[in-house]
Amino acid sequence: MKKSIDELVDVDVEGVVAREIFVDDELFEQELEHVFGRAWLFVGHVGLVPEPNDYFQSRMGTDPVILTRDKAGEIHVLLNTCTHRGMKLCRSDQGNTRTFTCPYHGWSFSTDGRLVDRPGELYNVPGYDTHYHSELDKKKWGLISVPRVEIYKGTVWASWDEEAPPLLDYLGDMRLYLDYALDYRDGRPGGAEVIGGVQKWRVQANWKMIPENFIGDLYHDVSHRSVDAVGIGPSGKGRRDSFGNRITLCFPEHGHGVIGQLPFHEEYDGVSGNWGENPEVQEYYRKVHESRVERLGDDMRVAMSVGTIFPSMSFHGRQPRTIAWVHPISATETEMWRIFLVDEDAPEVVKDEARRYYMRYSGPGGLTESDDMENWAYATRASKGWRSRQLFFNYQMGLGHARPVPELDNAVENGEFNEENARAFYRRWAQFMKASSWKEIPMPESEHTR
Ligand code: FES
Ligand SMILES: [Fe+2]
Repeated sequence: MKKSIDELVDVDVEGVVAREIFVDDELFEQELEHVFGRAWLFVGHVGLVPEPNDYFQSRMGTDPVILTRDKAGEIHVLLNTCTHRGMKLCRSDQGNTRTFTCPYHGWSFSTDGRLVDRPGELYNVPGYDTHYHSELDKKKWGLISVPRVEIYKGTVWASWDEEAPPLLDYLGDMRLYLDYALDYRDGRPGGAEVIGGVQKWRVQANWKMIPENFIGDLYHDVSHRSVDAVGIGPSGKGRRDSFGNRITLCFPEHGHGVIGQLPFHEEYDGVSGNWGENPEVQEYYRKVHESRVERLGDDMRVAMSVGTIFPSMSFHGRQPRTIAWVHPISATETEMWRIFLVDEDAPEVVKDEARRYYMRYSGPGGLTESDDMENWAYATRASKGWRSRQLFFNYQMGLGHARPVPELDNAVENGEFNEENARAFYRRWAQFMKASSWKEIPMPESEHTR
């Protein structure tokens, strides 16, 4: 007999999660609607579509979408499937066009406000006058627009659900940690630019294993020992430079979590020999930190290394500085995408050093990411068998020991090593899976005063 969601996810009493949720096809289908059909999903960065009529192919769950900037500079997210007979309309990863023409029968859809009233509207239909006798309702057969789109400091987010709370409420105070990745390192707002392209690759693992890893799994350091031994870090030591005062901290009512530092305990990138292989870069980070402290003073400031925004967006704020997001393909296969960030006004030498380090670290050819992929893929495979899928994963570390973080709304911390953050992720997952609409998904009172 099928287990209920509460039986599958028992993170509060037993601290366990059923392996079924990582391998079961029916649950996967339910996730597409209940999680990916409702949550705010990261779909890209404005830096991927800098000019009018630029587009970037993205995804929301298993649905292909087009992120595009219209002639007036507005960003839109459109479902990438022709309304005539479903052909995938746009098949290039990125480009520039005013009109998307379907390769199957030639219908074309435009985002240009001079040609159509709304972006994605059906603009031209071959044989409209003759074969259709001018009777086709073009206004009705335009591309489907994703109803909710919000941009936060260059990051583009979309939700299929009209009832989803505003993005800032959804992020809660996790936003402060996201700021660390998106703001100029010296504290001015925004300023992170995308360098290089988008890395894309597939891993034979359930999608949840990836945000779970990035939400706060410091415990798996052991599996990176070989990379640490190689010394790919910016100082030629370990896989990244040292980071003191690490805390796993999460926002249980939102399902987000982070490995970072408590407010005002930030230790900057450039301290104690970080980036030590290149003194010029090290000096740059020292200077920008000085400006940061001067500029922000007693304002809230935090630093972080890695975190996850429920459900599928993870980001690194320091070494490397990058956004990774996952697209589910099936219960046991996931596509991962990564973009890399630097301060847009950083000196070339800083950008270059970062770029080289990002390539050593991340993506399918990156040494650290390769370790992680192996863990996720084998854990998925070893949970698929008739016998093994009846078992549960253990998330008991630190259960019942979380403490509130007074400076942040709805945050708890649990020291350095614990599984509080993963429990928060699966608790949130269960809430989404059980709810029949956004109204049934608990949200903390909106309190953002910052
Ligand atoms: S499927 Fe696109 S025009 Fe027919
Ligand atoms: Fe890892």
